[in-house]
Amino acid sequence: MKKIVIIGASSGMGRRVADDFARLGWRVGIAARREEPLKELKEKYPDRIEYLTIDVEAPDAVDRFYQLIELIDGMDYMLYAAGCGWRNPELDTSVDDRTVMTNVLGFTRIVNAAYKYYKNTANRTPGHIAVITSVAGTKGIGISATYSASKRYQWTYLQALDQLAHQQHVNVVITDIRPGFVDTALIAGHTYPLEMSLDYVAPRLERAMLAGRRVAVIDSRWAVVTALWRLVPACLWRHIELTGW
Ligand SMILES: NC(=O)c1ccc[n+]([C@@H]2O[C@H](COP(=O)([O-])OP(=O)(O)OC[C@H]3O[C@@H](n4cnc5c(N)ncnc54)[C@H](OP(=O)(O)O)[C@@H]3O)[C@@H](O)[C@H]2O)c1
Repeated sequence: MKKIVIIGASSGMGRRVADDFARLGWRVGIAARREEPLKELKEKYPDRIEYLTIDVEAPDAVDRFYQLIELIDGMDYMLYAAGCGWRNPELDTSVDDRTVMTNVLGFTRIVNAAYKYYKNTANRTPGHIAVITSVAGTKGIGISATYSASKRYQWTYLQALDQLAHQQHVNVVITDIRPGFVDTALIAGHTYPLEMSLDYVAPRLERAMLAGRRVAVIDSRWAVVTALWRLVPACLWRHIELTGW
C-alpha cells in the first residue's frame, strides 16, 4: 500500500488530492493548521487517513512532520500544498511577512526535512517530493511582488535539490507543479483569466506527481502564456498591467 503525506490538506488542492488517494486505498497523512477539516477527512476514511495539525511556520513543524510520517508508517510521496498569497500593491508589510513565512520559511523547512527523511531511509524505490508552486514564479508581478518572488524561490530551491540528490545519490524524485489560476479559497472573491476547476486540475496534478515529472505546468494554455511572458523584455514588462491578478 502506497503512502503519501500532504501538508496543506485542509482545503483546496491538498484536500482534494488527499481525498482522491484515500479513495484509491492509499495510506494518507494529512496536515494543516485547522483541525476540523482534517478530522472530517479522517472520519470519511478512518482506516486510511491519519492527521496532525502542523503550522509550517512554527518551530515544532519538522518534529510534527516526522511524527505524521510515523503515524502512517512511512512515506513514498510528500506533497507540499500549503501556501498563501494576496495581491499587495500597497506593499503591506504584514502581508509580505505572512507570505514569506509560509511560502519560503515553512516550505524550506518541510521540503528540507522530507529530503533528509529519504536520504536517511534505505529505500529501494525512489521517494517523491512534489510541491505545488505556481506559474506566478515566471516573472516578478508588481501587484503580487512577494507572492511571485516566493514562488520563484520555490522553483529554484527544488531545482537545486534535484541537483543535490543526483550528486549525493539520494533516491528521490523532485516534482515542481505549476498551476495557473485554480478555483480554491486562495483566489475566492475574484474572477481570473483561464481559471480552472479543482475537478480539472486534480487529475493533472496527480498524474504529474506519479509520473515523477521534474516540472509540470498546468495546463497547456498556461504553458503557452508563461512561455510568451518569458519572451517579454524588462523594458516592456514594466508596462504590462496584470489587472486580473
Ligand atoms: N488557487 C490558485 O489559483 C493557485 C494557483 C497556483 C498555485 N497555487 C498554490 O497552490 C497551493 C495550494 O493553494 P490552494 O489554491 O489549494 O489554496 P487553499 O485552499 O487556500 O489551501 C492552502 C492550504 O495551505 C494550508 N496552509 C496555509 N498556511 C499554512 C501554514 N502556516 N501551515 C500549514 N498549512 C498552511 C491551509 O491550511 P490551514 O489554513 O488550515 O493551515 C490550506 O490547507 C499554494 O501554495 C498556492 O500558492 C494556487
